[in-house]
Amino acid sequence: MWGGRFTSKPAELMQAINVSIGFDKRLAEQDLAGSKAHAAMLAKQGVISAEDEVTIQGGLQAISAEMAAGTFPFRDEFEDIHMNVEARLRELIGPVAGRLHTARSRNDQVALDFRLWVREACDRTLAQIQALQGALLAKAEPHAATLMPGFTHLQPAQPVTFGHHLMAYVEMFGRDGSRFADARRRMNFSPLGAAALAGSPFPIDRHATAQALGFDGPLANSLDAVSTRDFALEALAAGSICAINLSRLAEEIVIWMTPQFGFIRLSDAFTTGSSIMPQKKNPDAAELVRAKVGKLMGAFTQLAIVMKGLPLTYSKDMQEDKVGTFEAFDALELSLAAMAGMVADLEPNAERMALAAGSGFSTATDLADWLVRELGIPFRDAHHVTGAAVKMAETRGCELADLPLADLQSLESRITPAIFDVLTPAASVASRRSYGGTSPDQVRAQIARWKDILS
Ligand code: ARG
Repeated sequence: MWGGRFTSKPAELMQAINVSIGFDKRLAEQDLAGSKAHAAMLAKQGVISAEDEVTIQGGLQAISAEMAAGTFPFRDEFEDIHMNVEARLRELIGPVAGRLHTARSRNDQVALDFRLWVREACDRTLAQIQALQGALLAKAEPHAATLMPGFTHLQPAQPVTFGHHLMAYVEMFGRDGSRFADARRRMNFSPLGAAALAGSPFPIDRHATAQALGFDGPLANSLDAVSTRDFALEALAAGSICAINLSRLAEEIVIWMTPQFGFIRLSDAFTTGSSIMPQKKNPDAAELVRAKVGKLMGAFTQLAIVMKGLPLTYSKDMQEDKVGTFEAFDALELSLAAMAGMVADLEPNAERMALAAGSGFSTATDLADWLVRELGIPFRDAHHVTGAAVKMAETRGCELADLPLADLQSLESRITPAIFDVLTPAASVASRRSYGGTSPDQVRAQIARWKDILS
């Protein structure tokens, strides 16, 4: 392709380090779409003849068919996807294939292909995130009032509902989705026509190719167009944050699945057994989702390191932008699908969770709040009295609700039997009606809001 000024072939080692077709073959579809748009524009602008365009489009169409059929001959000697396609085009339609590369360089070509791929990955990911949110909503709805302990420091803190807990993840994944939508909006400008780096002397129409490829317009600086990869960094950053959020839910599933917690059951579909311990049912899928975050953050870090300190414009370093990005999105796609599957599959053990919700003095705050509300005691003092009540219950090995009224009155004489109305986890949960709180009616309101957003 560039043999004109060369007299001998590259060393085998040179080929080995240079060749990228092994991984950039994943850009085949994007490369063909870019070429079709480019050829159409060249003809419309009179840069190539109408007959040549027809011939070129026919050849590109034939290559698309070969790609779809899996018969396209990928060859290492043609280095990358761009030259593989061009070489094949020449085999199919002859020397007129050489006109396709007018007013274009592999620099804007690869920038375009990779951007199109990342844009599609963002779209797929956003759809998957919404599917996961749908699964969470479907699971939250019947459990808007199902009690469970809420934790801080992984210590029982206050009773909440299982629905409320799941809806926390709906919020998190909602932000993840909006990060992808946001990244997509910012990346949706076309580098095509920037050519090698400085633009083209041919009367090309960059707005036309941008529009044909679904972009909002062309990138406005040719040097920037061929050299930026910040769109991929941004997508990987959004992916990393999403994977971090996924890993948190995965970790909770692992914890909830332990016999010690016993909060949920996962069916055989999302668990594995042990080859030696017959009693085991392991949450492998959740563990793997928890681990996949490494791929995402690794890919972000890798690309950040590749790009850091690179002068304008294109450098071959940038060929290393793809593998990590492809693998990262593969991992994220699998993680999101597995998580949606697990969420649909899991069944809470409401009895065990309710029991746990009522243990560990989880309604201590309710007791303190009652003292403030009913007796007008300052919260700090109420906190102190409640602390003494907890100590008393701990010594006796019972819960707060089991303390005799007389004992509570020995700590604060004005306490009445009405106190016991707030000491159950159900009452505690029902009382938390502040916006975004855990009361079942608040949870149902949030479920309704999200159903609306997602429909
Ligand atoms: N395979 C190359 C890459 O992925 C395509 C661009 C090559 N450009 C060049 N000037 N050598 O970056």
